[in-house]
Amino acid sequence: MNPLAQRPFGAAPVDVVLDVDTGVDDALALLFAVRHPGLRVRAVTCVAGNAGLEQVVRNTLTVLEHTGRTDIPVAAGADRPLIAAPRHAGHVHGGDGLADLELPPPTHTADDRHAVELLRDVLGSAPNPVTVIALAPLTNLALLLRTYPGVAGRIERIMVMGGSASAGNASPVAEFNTWHDPEAAAIVFGAGVPVTMYGLDVFYQVGVDQVTCGKLAAHEDPGVCLAGRLLCHQIRVGTGEPRVPAGSGLLGDAGAVCAVADPGGLVTEHLPVQVELAPGISRGQTVVDRRALPGEQEIHGTPVAVPRVDVAWQVDARRYRDLFLTTLLDGTA
Ligand code: BDR
Ligand code: CA
Repeated sequence: MNPLAQRPFGAAPVDVVLDVDTGVDDALALLFAVRHPGLRVRAVTCVAGNAGLEQVVRNTLTVLEHTGRTDIPVAAGADRPLIAAPRHAGHVHGGDGLADLELPPPTHTADDRHAVELLRDVLGSAPNPVTVIALAPLTNLALLLRTYPGVAGRIERIMVMGGSASAGNASPVAEFNTWHDPEAAAIVFGAGVPVTMYGLDVFYQVGVDQVTCGKLAAHEDPGVCLAGRLLCHQIRVGTGEPRVPAGSGLLGDAGAVCAVADPGGLVTEHLPVQVELAPGISRGQTVVDRRALPGEQEIHGTPVAVPRVDVAWQVDARRYRDLFLTTLLDGTA
């Protein structure tokens, strides 16, 4: 059962902040979020991940300019994980993190505040608890929750694109965002805030077919055109990944935003999840416990408190694809 699905039809827009490492699919997520009438984007915070922090900030400002939303505050946060060195993903997202499309540099600038300070201010001043959509390594959010633990009560839920209950991508068992900063993921999962884990189990399923991607790329609206060009890049990068539907441009992070806008398309289960912190091949793995009964590990071992997370198991891929396209195209010629 997905607890988010209880939101009444016709309710007021949901206040959200996005934490991103823009990133091709973070860009798709931003383009969708700012255009969805059910979401009110109050801030965007940036963290090192897919690219270095400075590049992530620049990419985020560029994307928002393409969709005319320069009013949304953007802040730079952590330039590295809590403990480990940063390791970027240029082979997936291009050398500039945004598919090397040679986009013009942004003309507006980031907020002066650090991401943690911007998040604290926005969460503290919003009329209602805010949904945090975390599409990147969780460094900024871990720093926020440790620096200002009181803000936890101002967070409705954290929708985390991260983790996997099955195979990984950064390593055989770890997804990139939790692999990049496992300690941060462990802090966020254990912070006592409701968390949905939109992991690789659903992440790879939502895509847009090649013909539609091409049509979007030829669109005269700058935001739609950018989305199309990024999706065409996704088709090139996704070729050979068996979890991506053949010939599809992956929505990736944008699927997690769809899950906030339309929670009914996601099936989740409330389960214990531990983030593996030990060095070695399984570091960053999210170990999801689907057992009904305790086993020998619990019977003979020292009891540990394991946080419970709403793990996404199934996604209505067609529903989110359609939602993405209609939202993006709504109001354009
Ligand atoms: C995640 O890592 C990045 O490559 C994407 O932006 C997404 O957030 C997928 O593992
Ligand atoms: Ca991302």
